[in-house]
Amino acid sequence: MTAAPLATGTAPATAEALLSVRGLTLDLGTTQPGLVQDVEFTVPKGRSVALIGESGCGKTLTAMAILGLLPRAVRVVSGEIDFAGTDLLTCGPRELRRIRGGPVGAVFQEPMSSLDPTMTVGDQIAEARRIHFKEGRRTAREHARGLLDRVGIPDAKRRLDSYPHEMSGGMQQRVMIAAAIAGEPRLVLADEPTTALDVTIQAEILELLRDLRRDLGLAVLLVTHDLGVVADFCDEVVVMYAGHVVEKAPVREAFRTPAHPYTSALLGSVPRSDRARTPLEVIGGRVPPAGSFPGGCRFRPRCRHAAASCGEPQADTVLAAGHHTCCGRVAAGDLTPGREL
Ligand SMILES: Nc1ncnc2c1ncn2[C@@H]1O[C@H](COP(=O)(O)OP(=O)(O)OP(=O)(O)O)[C@@H](O)[C@H]1O
Ligand SMILES: [Mg+2]
Repeated sequence: MTAAPLATGTAPATAEALLSVRGLTLDLGTTQPGLVQDVEFTVPKGRSVALIGESGCGKTLTAMAILGLLPRAVRVVSGEIDFAGTDLLTCGPRELRRIRGGPVGAVFQEPMSSLDPTMTVGDQIAEARRIHFKEGRRTAREHARGLLDRVGIPDAKRRLDSYPHEMSGGMQQRVMIAAAIAGEPRLVLADEPTTALDVTIQAEILELLRDLRRDLGLAVLLVTHDLGVVADFCDEVVVMYAGHVVEKAPVREAFRTPAHPYTSALLGSVPRSDRARTPLEVIGGRVPPAGSFPGGCRFRPRCRHAAASCGEPQADTVLAAGHHTCCGRVAAGDLTPGREL
């Protein structure tokens, strides 16, 4: 079967964007190709967007660029990161400090590396209220107590005076979330927020994030390796491979009719209860190390559909509202989107 002809360009926005990343390119200041190259995606108001891809694909660097927390070695070559009308790449450190921890909150994988071990959890949460809302000590502490309560920490009043190391990993992650929402964010960046936790605690933390999202109308950018979490929690998905965005789609569409061989391969590597007897697909090879990316489609050396045309730069092609692929062969109708891709 041949796919329908497709339009190249930008699909009409279906929901108002809160965060727009445009043409983001990051490198190490060398002549090597970008660690992150021409990355574009939006997070609409109140929606949840997943950023997925194998290890080393540039998910964390993209999130860190949004927060203005890139490692010193990494340079912004070009791009815009528009958050509610402010370009976070050019706005200056003062404005960035106002936004980070305020309208943009963050939750990372390892709570212990983000929480200050020398401060009580109460003081750490209260600090966000004092900085962003100029609250006095007593009011900020009262707010911190309410926030600990809100994120499900029992005996919140007593826990205000605990240090992070006196809490379990799940409790620490709840504290991180309380600190993130203390600034009354409109967007929360969560980089593998449950990876370091055991399975039952993971489910509880996701449930908490889901409740907060609903109650506070938060938009969430969720970096994860867990496609079950993507299916369960997110509205849209952005798939990265070796620093490129290869596909963007509403989650249901990405799962039913993936339109890039890499997305299809990622989905094929996850166990499905309805296909218990089908062997899992293994994506042969690995993500090339930064600096040795091939030209054209970076997935080409691992792709079973690779053709000579894949060595050329691949345009972003719109298949349907909100569904983009960077596979030139799908765009040309040589390959049909779907799980068998
Ligand atoms: N400080 C740094 N200096 C040099 N290279 C870096 C630095 N930080 C990241 N990189 C490189 O940038 C690339 C993308 O890294 P990033 O941490 O964004 O990947 P990721 O998609 O978040 O992976 P994971 O799923 O393992 O967290 C990798 O090749 C990594 O080695
Ligand atoms: Mg990462």
